[in-house]
Amino acid sequence: MKDNPIIVGLDIGTTKITTVIGEVGDDGSVDIIGEGTVPSEGMKRGAVVNLERATGAIRQSVQAAERVSGVRVASVFVSVAGNHVKAITSHGLAAIRRHQEISQADVDRAIENARAVPLDPNLEIIHTLPQEYVVDGQEGIKSAVGMHGVRLEVDVHIVAGTAGPLLNLRRCVQEAGLKVEGFVLQALASGLATLEAAEQSQTVVVIDMGGGTTDVGVFKRGNLAHSACIPIGGDHVTADLAQILKLPHEEAENVKRRYGAAVPELADPDLTLEITTANGSTHAISAFELSRIIKPRLTEIFGMVRDEIDQALGPVELVAQGVVLTGGASSLRGIPELARDRFRLPVRVGRPRGIGGLTDIVSGPAHAGGVGLVLYGIGQDGKVPVSVFRPEEPATPPPAPQPQPAAKASSEAKKEAGAVTVATPAPSQPAPKKDKESGNLLTKVRGFFKDWM
Ligand SMILES: Nc1ncnc2c1ncn2[C@@H]1O[C@H](COP(=O)(O)OP(=O)(O)OP(=O)(O)O)[C@@H](O)[C@H]1O
Ligand SMILES: [Mg+2]
Repeated sequence: MKDNPIIVGLDIGTTKITTVIGEVGDDGSVDIIGEGTVPSEGMKRGAVVNLERATGAIRQSVQAAERVSGVRVASVFVSVAGNHVKAITSHGLAAIRRHQEISQADVDRAIENARAVPLDPNLEIIHTLPQEYVVDGQEGIKSAVGMHGVRLEVDVHIVAGTAGPLLNLRRCVQEAGLKVEGFVLQALASGLATLEAAEQSQTVVVIDMGGGTTDVGVFKRGNLAHSACIPIGGDHVTADLAQILKLPHEEAENVKRRYGAAVPELADPDLTLEITTANGSTHAISAFELSRIIKPRLTEIFGMVRDEIDQALGPVELVAQGVVLTGGASSLRGIPELARDRFRLPVRVGRPRGIGGLTDIVSGPAHAGGVGLVLYGIGQDGKVPVSVFRPEEPATPPPAPQPQPAAKASSEAKKEAGAVTVATPAPSQPAPKKDKESGNLLTKVRGFFKDWM
């Protein structure tokens, strides 16, 4: 029996390091056969700050995925993000001789011309991603080879990383006994994992909200056309809560996940938390107030995303048709509503799709990066593999903008926040499904809070 190709993604984040092992079938379909996630160590905002600790965590994550899959990992596609990554879009031109078809060599020449921009010598190119081609002024051409014309133009999105941080990352991976198959921009990987078929013909903003960074990718008809990394993420929301509520970071994180909301109007109006601080004093805070602490940081992040796109491409609501939020921090209640308000566009939460195998383990938005690395590895051309959009999986069109009436919104929030009643379930109600996480959370939280329903 022949072995199918194995592609491994190593998503080195600020809060977690995830290894995803994918097996590619004969028809190009991908089955996830291994996953390993460990808390991140030695990383800060996308850069290695402690080689030894980062190497150790990478090793643990890969070993965990190896144990699940029974596969020995030799090489990996590694995610890259952070302030040290720079991206520009450059224009390339190639003249075509009269009466000749455009050849691959002409296309390569146009791309090469676009690459010939003066770059800081300290930068190492990670991606050269051609957009659509223009032949004699005719725009929107996906493949120019074989066409007739005298002037071939192409916009190329060039992503480069500073040599030092890339070397550090490569060293950690190598020290963990692995070969770097390639570096992949986090925003590109997240887009490959989450974009739906209908979005391949639109301009869509993918926002991966992680712990330490928010990675932005603007995909024009399936091509990454603009990217940026904002050095703020969900951990800053937690830090704000910890500081204002005078709680340890871990408790603030629990409170955020369990009771937090991005929009005060979506917080449970009947929920009040009683907080006991480290020195023994107690104070009460309503879920509404809690959300008022959370919202400004998220508004700041969305504002920075907006400014970034406005400056590079023009007003976001004019250049894009939708926003896809992904990454762990996009799980916060009310975040799509806040984003919808800020961007004035349809917003959805993007989860990895188009894969088989251990889908239950990698189906959350926090796994978009890891799964996207595997999907990148298939074609390595920065495009969503065709196999992902199987005919039997019709595309889900992006939701139409639906400003939610306040009354409906709060009743929905109440239903969701009803999970809090896990502590004291009403006898008439079936006990909510207890996952491992909420089980742990309640035990931890109970020492600090009393919930009033
Ligand atoms: N259910 C949840 N509700 C709210 N926030 C959540 C939830 N689950 C995870 N988060 C937040 O998501 C963030 C981590 O996201 P993710 O796992 O995508 O980060 P990362 O990939 O490690 O970091 P980065 O991409 O910034 O390097 C944390 O700030 C965490 O608080
Ligand atoms: Mg991430």
